[in-house]
Amino acid sequence: MWKRTLALTLAASLLVLAGCGSKQTPAPSTTPSTSNPPASSEAPKSNEPKKLVIYAGMMEDHVKGAVAEFEAQTGIKVEWVRMSSGETLTRIRAEKENPQASVWYGGPADAYVAAKEEGLLAQYVSPNAAKIPDQFKDPEGYWTGIYVGLLGFGYNTKMMEEKGLTPPESWEDLLKPEFKGQIALANPGSSGTSYTLLATIVQLMGEEKGLEYMTKLHEQVAQYPKSGTAPGQMAGRGEVLIGISFAHDIVKYAKEGMPLDVTFPKEGTGYEIGGIALINGAPDEEAAKIFIDWALTKEAQELGQKYGSYQSLTNVEATNPPEAFSLDEVTIIDYDLQWAGANRTQLVEKWSKAVNMQ
Ligand code: F6P
Repeated sequence: MWKRTLALTLAASLLVLAGCGSKQTPAPSTTPSTSNPPASSEAPKSNEPKKLVIYAGMMEDHVKGAVAEFEAQTGIKVEWVRMSSGETLTRIRAEKENPQASVWYGGPADAYVAAKEEGLLAQYVSPNAAKIPDQFKDPEGYWTGIYVGLLGFGYNTKMMEEKGLTPPESWEDLLKPEFKGQIALANPGSSGTSYTLLATIVQLMGEEKGLEYMTKLHEQVAQYPKSGTAPGQMAGRGEVLIGISFAHDIVKYAKEGMPLDVTFPKEGTGYEIGGIALINGAPDEEAAKIFIDWALTKEAQELGQKYGSYQSLTNVEATNPPEAFSLDEVTIIDYDLQWAGANRTQLVEKWSKAVNMQ
């Protein structure tokens, strides 16, 4: 069992407050006004871009903090909405003829791969992408990675102890009778986290066996929330014993005081590269490029931890949060992102059929 000391400082509870994760925002919201308005010398001149609309996939408090910082530095006003990556893909697809947002910020890159294939993204090689290793970006510049996160099993330490159970250490363990009705994972159609899980299982076991496994896992699942950030939180609240989320989200909730720890499957886990991209036909292209340049900087990447986001960072100069798990400390699969992106729609359909979720 991976046992990171999660009896973590409660100073982090200061970070808890607004919207920690599972809250869904159905419609675009105007950004909260920054408490730190731009100095007049930084205000945009009349020919400079003034506004930007972003679809974001990270935790809401992270996006809120990042946007406030960006607005203060550039004077560009940002409107944003947090959506899970399947939802963002659906929204961008629906708006293809008349795009409403200019930047897609965060969320697993397999959805970006799918969007690129459908012509929904525009090529943009930021000068700052030079600081991002090739393994974390699209070779043609359609998206660039900003962080990396590993899938983990978040479990309620109190309940696990009270029931005298051993935390799961493998994908097979999740199928144990004692975990029946005690597991939450998000819907892979809406959630990038859960699509990562589905693609991981199929890459590990092959399509037929993988879908069989997902059908068996379905029998153990109490609930499929929309967002992949929710299952860890549900385990923390004791609504289920185990929530499958990205490990950094489980760490966030543990730091906020929830009785949680995380294990990783010994057969190997999947991981995400969180992306950023310019949307094809972006209404605010210039502002979008300024935002993308900014988001790739060391400073912008390091901001996440201030708001409870503990992913590993992709900029070679950025310092990872001490809480971050890195790809080499856990057994991971050789996750094929291109395959996962190219097969997204059909794999989700097959899963829905297999578990009767249509
Ligand atoms: O921390 C938030 C986060 O887990 C990101 O790391 C990830 O890219 C995103 O949420 C996935 O969200 P969803 O599963 O809702 O698409």
